[in-house]
Amino acid sequence: MPNKNSPLIEFDSVVKRFPGVVANDGVTFTIDKGTIHSLLGENGAGKTTLMNILYGLYQQDQGSIYLRGKEFQIESPTRAIELGIGMVHQHFKLVQNHTVAENIALGLPSASTIRPTTDIKRKLLELAGQYGLKVDPDAKIWQLSAGEKQRVEILRALYRGAKTLILDEPTSVLTPGETERLFTVLEDMKSEGRTIIFITHKLDEVMEISDVVTVLREGKVVDTVDTASTDKSELSQKMVGREVLFDLDKPSRERGQVTLEVQDLNALNDKRVEAINDLSFSVHEGEILGIAGVAGNGQRELAEVLTGLRKATSGKVLIDGEDMTNTTPRKVSDRNVAHIPEDRIHQGIVGDLTLKDNVILKGYRKEPFSKGLVIDYSLVDEHTRKIIEDFNIKVPDTNTPANLLSGGNIQRLILGREVSSNPKLIIASHPTYGLDVAAAEQIRQLLLEQKGRGVGILLISENLTEVTSISDRIAVLFEGKIMGTVESGELEREELGMLMAGTPLEELGRREESVKG
Ligand SMILES: Nc1ncnc2c1ncn2[C@@H]1O[C@H](COP(=O)(O)OP(=O)(O)O)[C@@H](O)[C@H]1O
Ligand SMILES: [Mg+2]
Repeated sequence: MPNKNSPLIEFDSVVKRFPGVVANDGVTFTIDKGTIHSLLGENGAGKTTLMNILYGLYQQDQGSIYLRGKEFQIESPTRAIELGIGMVHQHFKLVQNHTVAENIALGLPSASTIRPTTDIKRKLLELAGQYGLKVDPDAKIWQLSAGEKQRVEILRALYRGAKTLILDEPTSVLTPGETERLFTVLEDMKSEGRTIIFITHKLDEVMEISDVVTVLREGKVVDTVDTASTDKSELSQKMVGREVLFDLDKPSRERGQVTLEVQDLNALNDKRVEAINDLSFSVHEGEILGIAGVAGNGQRELAEVLTGLRKATSGKVLIDGEDMTNTTPRKVSDRNVAHIPEDRIHQGIVGDLTLKDNVILKGYRKEPFSKGLVIDYSLVDEHTRKIIEDFNIKVPDTNTPANLLSGGNIQRLILGREVSSNPKLIIASHPTYGLDVAAAEQIRQLLLEQKGRGVGILLISENLTEVTSISDRIAVLFEGKIMGTVESGELEREELGMLMAGTPLEELGRREESVKG
């Protein structure tokens, strides 16, 4: 029976299975009208799947969804939109070569997509003004930043009359400033009586923006609580199901020979502007050198030069004493250098390929997988299974396409693949970026294990806690220069923060540790 007092949305024992996984395992909770309701959970917890069901993209295998007390089978997004439900996906679904207005018009019953009527543009600008969501209706989608695309998606949903708006990890593509602006928009929508379902794995955001939070773990609801009555530590425990161990098991290891040496290295960025400036440092075997700093200070260019993806304008890169300046990625990898790239989805894996094809991406030319032109697939399969087991990758089988894995699983796959070739040096760029607490911790532990085996590791990371907790030494990068290199633990967090903001170490009144191999 439809009932005014019934909750706006009710999930009752919703089950959704995929081959090998129960993505939603009897999910039951309710969402009230006019609230911001967070859905919190680690990667793979089942958040996106549940919302895709509410939005009509998937059908549940069992269980029911009630809207204001009445059961609905939401068989398509069109039906969801009729019911006042809109969704902004994690990966935007806009047509790149069309304008903003054309994208808004797309799929509207009475609109021509070729030339959106001035009516559509007018209403779009009206909505944009009302919420402070600035957009140019005539801009092409490909010209827009991620934040702007997100605004278009939100406007598209509002245009279609969404009273309930689902946002899937909306802040993952935003800068901190854009995130704050988004939060203001969400508050405004709430004050008008709209309902927001906010998917995230970030505790700070849950505490800041939501009224109520439902925690999902392994497809099940752990709890639904008012944010006013909980805190981050309680939520993180619910999310991962155990205390988060911040004290990692650090293997002690004698520092060995220099494996990577960088001398007076210079390189330009894509805009042909100087990105790294006279960088000199070395990484020893059995050592983690952390490169701390706010992203965008030359980290990407540095990693690219070291892995053969970008040319240095001057200076030298020596790997095990051999000059590897301006060489190719393949030659770098042949020198037993493993690379964990910043953009794991585009550079780390080929999403459409199966797990086992991804595992041999780099090794396919080599023994033992390839004898002449023939690839030994049973060996590859066995090898992939071992990586799945050793690196705790949650996946039904080795033939699963890699793009179905969650972020943590993808990162463990990349690490597993890279490490199984017995590298001497690992270049890891933001290896835990975007991962939830537990997945990030596993990756750090895996890096420490590699160090324990005598591998040299260059850890490029924006996460200061991460850098300080696992590195042996830390070099701070600012505007392409090293502001100082210190032993881990030598400086306070605040002092490292000052280096990250561009204060050279000498000005902190300390002498730089000179570590020469
Ligand atoms: N289309 C799909 N096919 C097979 N498995 C899937 C599919 N979508 C999600 N999964 C699996 O379902 C589980 C839940 O995924 P998802 O809902 O995306 O989690 P979250 O959004 O919380 O990270 C994961 O194990 C994921 O690998
Ligand atoms: Mg998701």
